Amino acid sequence: VGDLTAADLKGKKVFVRADLNVPLDDSQNITDDTRIRAAIPTIKHLIQNGAKVILSSHLGRPKGVTPKFSLAPLVPRLSELLGIQVVKADDCIGPEVEKLVAALPEGGVLLLENVRFYKEEEKNEPEFAKKLASLADLFVNDAFGTAHRAHASTEGVTKFLKPSVAGFLLQKELDYLVGAVSSPKRPFAAIVGGSKVSSKIGVIESLLEKCDILLLGGGMIFTFYKAQGLSVGSSLVEEDKLELATSLLAKAKAKGVSLLLPTDVVIADKFAPDANSKIVPASAIPDGWMGLDIGPDSVKTFNEALDTTQTIIWNGPMGVFEFDKFAVGTEAIAKKLAELSGKGVTTIIGGGDSVAAVEKVGVADVMSHISTGGGASLELLEGKELPGVIALDEAVPVAV
Ligand code: 3PG
Repeated sequence: VGDLTAADLKGKKVFVRADLNVPLDDSQNITDDTRIRAAIPTIKHLIQNGAKVILSSHLGRPKGVTPKFSLAPLVPRLSELLGIQVVKADDCIGPEVEKLVAALPEGGVLLLENVRFYKEEEKNEPEFAKKLASLADLFVNDAFGTAHRAHASTEGVTKFLKPSVAGFLLQKELDYLVGAVSSPKRPFAAIVGGSKVSSKIGVIESLLEKCDILLLGGGMIFTFYKAQGLSVGSSLVEEDKLELATSLLAKAKAKGVSLLLPTDVVIADKFAPDANSKIVPASAIPDGWMGLDIGPDSVKTFNEALDTTQTIIWNGPMGVFEFDKFAVGTEAIAKKLAELSGKGVTTIIGGGDSVAAVEKVGVADVMSHISTGGGASLELLEGKELPGVIALDEAVPVAV
């Protein structure tokens, strides 16, 4: 069994590792339930097929048992979305948990307490993984956001619990972030933004092997400008990455990838939401001013390039979109992707800040895929294998 739909589930105890690591406010209210909603299809499938679901996740980065990192605040929302009352355990292993598992009816869901309350989880200690595994007959990994971690509940458990298969969310993430990116409908454009080129080197290098068009935005562009001899005022520059920027430009050229840098930028006299701002050509940033967004000409050029494509992947904002004044470029790209998605272009939003941007604009629902993983989606886009995926029984088949 490499595939959840093929698994015989009736009456089976299924250990499901999900990534329910959602943000909570000071009153323990969930401020973004995306990851809970994303976990529902797999759990519902298990319920409908008569499985007994033992649901596991981490929350935050607790050091030992820490009440504010309990999974208890997730129970009402999970129960509401599943349409059944989810039972909550106070631990994730041990005799009390075993009793609750024994009492689980077919179609019932037991939420275990935060696995990271045990340091053995992150250390991937076999004895701990074995205890988790002993609770169930089958392992379903649906925790895409944690698939880059070789932890006991993501990787270790597969050594003691067979079969180990991918859940629907994990499969969908792989279909888009690996399948659609490796064998894209062409032309294929990648949009990469974010403040630092150093954190996106792997992604840019990997995408240069695959894409036809590469659009760069965000703070990282000033390192590229400086590498080309332009003056960048007091914009963010990684001085030790100038050579790298030059080599990436050369690599794009050698590969025949059309790499576009913004032609104009919105500059500010300080890094603040109420800074004075103006739009200038990329070659005319005065001293004392810093670039905080891409300008309208760049948006126009980027949009024209995107209009020619069939597949688009986007990772990283075009500017400091947390400040409304400098969110225009990022929001324009989000709107463009929404428009193209409606016309049948495959649009993939890869993790982190770009997800926040499409949500801010209110166009999240129309994208082909929005990744639930930050670090995991970056690593996949860099072409790395994820420990939580390769540990599964068969290489997870990736749809294109
Ligand atoms: C995430 O939020 O990226 C995942 O849940 C993984 O969390 P971690 O970075 O604490 O391992």
